[in-house]
Amino acid sequence: MRPVTLVLFLTFTLLAFNAGHILPGAAEVRSRKQKVWARVGSSAVLPCYLSRKKMGKSWKHLPDKTSVLWKRLGRSTHQEPHIVLEVEGSGLRKTALPMKPRVSVQDSALRNGNFSLHISPVRSEDAGLYEAQVVYNTKVQSCHVDLGVITVTLSPPSPVVENEPLLLRCNSSHHASLVETCWFHNGHLAPTSGTFCSSHGALSILRPAMSDAGSWRCQLRYSDNEIISAMYNLQILGFDGPANPVVYAAAGSAADLPCTLSYLPSAFGINVVTAHWSHLAGGHMQDWGIAHNSSSRSFPLHLPAVGPGDAGQYRCAVSVGSRTISRDVTLAVVTVTPNIQGPVSEGCHLLLTCSLTHPQGHERFQWKQLDSPPTNSKLAVATSHNLGGYRSQMGPTLEIRHVSQKDSGTWECSVYGPEGRLGAVEYGLQITGAQVSSPPTIFSGQVTFGLTLTFFLLLTVCVLALALQKRARSPAFPALDGMVAITVPRKKEAEENQKEKIQQTEC
Ligand SMILES: *[C@@H]1O[C@H](CO)[C@@H](O)[C@H](O)[C@H]1NC(C)=O
Ligand SMILES: *[C@@H]1O[C@H](CO)[C@@H](O)[C@H](O)[C@H]1NC(C)=O
Ligand SMILES: *[C@@H]1O[C@H](CO)[C@@H](O)[C@H](O)[C@H]1NC(C)=O
Repeated sequence: MRPVTLVLFLTFTLLAFNAGHILPGAAEVRSRKQKVWARVGSSAVLPCYLSRKKMGKSWKHLPDKTSVLWKRLGRSTHQEPHIVLEVEGSGLRKTALPMKPRVSVQDSALRNGNFSLHISPVRSEDAGLYEAQVVYNTKVQSCHVDLGVITVTLSPPSPVVENEPLLLRCNSSHHASLVETCWFHNGHLAPTSGTFCSSHGALSILRPAMSDAGSWRCQLRYSDNEIISAMYNLQILGFDGPANPVVYAAAGSAADLPCTLSYLPSAFGINVVTAHWSHLAGGHMQDWGIAHNSSSRSFPLHLPAVGPGDAGQYRCAVSVGSRTISRDVTLAVVTVTPNIQGPVSEGCHLLLTCSLTHPQGHERFQWKQLDSPPTNSKLAVATSHNLGGYRSQMGPTLEIRHVSQKDSGTWECSVYGPEGRLGAVEYGLQITGAQVSSPPTIFSGQVTFGLTLTFFLLLTVCVLALALQKRARSPAFPALDGMVAITVPRKKEAEENQKEKIQQTEC
């Protein structure tokens, strides 16, 4: 039984002791000195709770005469303490001038026994010893608090802009000598520990990127083994999105080049913002000014219809206050080049090549037929062997060995990157030729050949008739007969060649 009682006793003692830090009235007014750390610019609470136990029966209603007086003790024994704040029994509050707007105790302090002093924002000169005297029922209890301050300094002062070197420093009012400072970013010890844990204590980032933004914690270790830390939320004014964005746009379509700041400049008190776009095209600079709007952080450039000539690198320069930050954006135009110009005849060997003006090297292409003529849709499935079995094909080139009516319609070439679909371009395929089936090309070829033959036979007859007529008039030129006989087949041959050429350009 005895050990059990001892354990219970210890548990209750510990509970009561721990609760003293958090719960009002659960513990004695602390007469021993407490240490509180606060970062300059943040807020601090100097704890002081009135013990419920000591007040006994009077707990429910604190006596009317209860009052509290917070004093700042002098830095040296010669210095007189000065009053910070006083709440009289009547509820009247007096605050001394130097800290007047920054200090307070809860309105309900006299009722709930929480006399903690709240300081916001903390200044570096607030560091020092504080004492609270709580007077009730002619009894006096006091709280002693030692306020230590930590200063985090950023240079140049906020806002930090992308790629401009920055220095973060941390110091504190602790009197021992500083042994080491460590820096943690988003909870992790910053990379390359050699650089980030140092004796001089400063964190230097030569080219801050957007990834360096966020919560930083400095941890100071002193020669007396005291460890103090402070948090700092580093905001970097830069651009949203990837560092070198690429916009993929189909030739002939509109493109919007992004340029969005990471923060609204007005969040830093900057109200003058101008954005300017430029593009080096064919040796001369094109410029666009974007009307500024301080309630916006986005300055996109809209290009209504892009061609391969518009592709290339664009620069968005944003003037924020006295500084200018810029981001390069690449416009890659997607085009389709067919091996046959103009309408395509049935039976032709067609190659459609999808290309990018500014490939980044990681792009993949996919060809897909968006809509096939409705009447042929079933046929397309049934006779897909003609196409090699695909309606969708990987790679930049779409090859159709024998073009048929079911290939007409819209084809789409999509560009994919590691992050997904980047853009697409459509190509409308028009097919000419007889609607009658099998095999249309040979059929039309035979017809043309027959017609040509008939035409030349007629021509030969005419020429011969003319020659005979001339011969009848002037028999002095016998050679002409041979000449005519030779000319006719030559002319025919030339016509045939030309015909062949036309056939080639169409297919
Ligand atoms: C006591 O008052 C301070 C402000 O004066 C407040 O921050 C703190 O949370 C209060 N404590 C409790 C336990 O309510
Ligand atoms: C910490 O550094 C800041 C800026 O350099 C300085 O104003 C402040 O007095 C220092 N604080 C202490 C406690 O040394
Ligand atoms: C400024 O931007 C806001 C938000 O994007 C928009 O609602 C507003 O119309 C803009 N004003 C002007 C003058 O462009």
